[in-house]
Amino acid sequence: MKRDAMSLSTRAIHSGAPGPRRNQPVATPIYLSATFESKDVDEQIATEEAKADTFYMRYGNPTLTVAERAVAELEGAESAAVFGSGMAAITTSLLAHLGQGDHAIFQREVYGGVHRFAYELLPRYGVDVSWFEATDTAGFENAIRDTTKLVYLESPTNPTLKLVDIERVASIAKARGIVSLIDSTFATPLNTRPHELGIDGVLHSATKYLGGHSDLLGGVVAGSSELVDRVKSYMRVLGGILDPHAAYLLVRGIKSLGLRVERHNANGLAVSRFLAQHDRVRAVFYPMLESFSQVELARRQMRGGGGVVSFEVDGGLEGAKRVSNALTLIRIAPSLGGVESLSSIPCVTSHAMLPRDEREKAGIGDGLIRLALGIEDTEDLIADLDGALSA
Ligand SMILES: Cc1ncc(COP(=O)(O)O)c(C=O)c1O
Repeated sequence: MKRDAMSLSTRAIHSGAPGPRRNQPVATPIYLSATFESKDVDEQIATEEAKADTFYMRYGNPTLTVAERAVAELEGAESAAVFGSGMAAITTSLLAHLGQGDHAIFQREVYGGVHRFAYELLPRYGVDVSWFEATDTAGFENAIRDTTKLVYLESPTNPTLKLVDIERVASIAKARGIVSLIDSTFATPLNTRPHELGIDGVLHSATKYLGGHSDLLGGVVAGSSELVDRVKSYMRVLGGILDPHAAYLLVRGIKSLGLRVERHNANGLAVSRFLAQHDRVRAVFYPMLESFSQVELARRQMRGGGGVVSFEVDGGLEGAKRVSNALTLIRIAPSLGGVESLSSIPCVTSHAMLPRDEREKAGIGDGLIRLALGIEDTEDLIADLDGALSA
């Protein structure tokens, strides 16, 4: 059976593995060797020139190659590169494409670390940065200058799950010769395939859904071989490579991505519907919820809404603390994408460094709780939330 005739869930299990082999391990071996030996100097030169994964570990490693092939296949891209964290993947990809005198346009609602990199660090290297709102494609178009080299997107956003019209922004960028990058961590390749919608480079914090078990830190960029080779050449200098142990865990996590995302999607929809009808909940944010402001765009560019649901309770921060502290199954911790459900209050965690008026402009009230739903049974999650809201 041809690979591209198979479902993404099936490909998640088999992707990355080399072709037909005999007497080879079914599980991915962990190559714990910082360096690789050549038969003679000519072979060593050839290995280096071919950018092979058997030269020196900062340049690559066979365990990492399996993870890279797997993500490339799931994103429908020619190639991928893995990194030691999502931030390493993002910053290396940005540095590979931007230099002094360039202009870059960033979506305002990006992950906090990316916001800081674009706001504080890029201008120090002579890069001019403009911002636009996820929901305002015209704002992106109006920000384009002759020197614009790159547009950076994230969809859905944290914590209010706003969506950017990926296909539209990608087509405007392409027509103007602007490189487009997107952080697709919240969507996963099972729910959105941005490369197919025209995006040049797709980024993930592999720490989240791709790894899936809250036991590794990693990042990835997927795209054309040209784009990935360019980013990899910077990775070799900047050094943010993934450890082979973590690469093994990533490959293992990806195998169950299809099953996990199915359950994350089902939990997200059921929990958001439960919260939307609860009289102690003021607002619910979830892309596939019937009342969500961008539900039509969600249905167009997503196969499911994912596992993150945010909701606002009465009583501001004190109200949000009361509900969070009363949860017994859902644990208080940052991050998302793992098998276990977590909760956090953005105004005192991920978005604490934003001034209050900017937070309010972004729709992040003090009473907002972000749930990163895991893959527990839906009924248990709803019972936990029902109990906490009644407490
Ligand atoms: C959407 C998103 N992008 C990027 C990152 C950064 O990833 P990492 O923590 O793996 O560096 C995070 C981390 O929370 C995130 O949520």
